[in-house]
Amino acid sequence: MEDPLFRDYETLVNITVLGKAFQVPEKNTCLRAFQYISPDTIPYGRFCWNQECQYCRISFTLASQPEEPPRSVLACKVLVAEGMQITDLSEELRYNLMGVIRATEPRSPVDEQDDKLRL
Ligand code: FES
Repeated sequence: MEDPLFRDYETLVNITVLGKAFQVPEKNTCLRAFQYISPDTIPYGRFCWNQECQYCRISFTLASQPEEPPRSVLACKVLVAEGMQITDLSEELRYNLMGVIRATEPRSPVDEQDDKLRL
């Protein structure tokens, strides 16, 4: 697919971010993948995009290597991979992604009750 924001990709890969499942473009960095899932926040984060600021640090494991401990890396440097499980986010990433991560959480009975009261 052609999109000037992303490196050319043909398919999406499955990743999880703090336990929430997403599909993101293959062959792209994790930070670009975060932009794919949250295009309204990541571009406005305090990210240098070139491995200098350290605001994009993440920890991840791979589904194919379940015995390996989480690796701490820069999301602007590491490419996404099928089955990547991102288990920790920097404070800046957490702030910028919390909207999409919360949006995919199941709604609690209290939330659903609040919705009914508003109708
Ligand atoms: S965005 Fe600055 S180090 Fe990754």
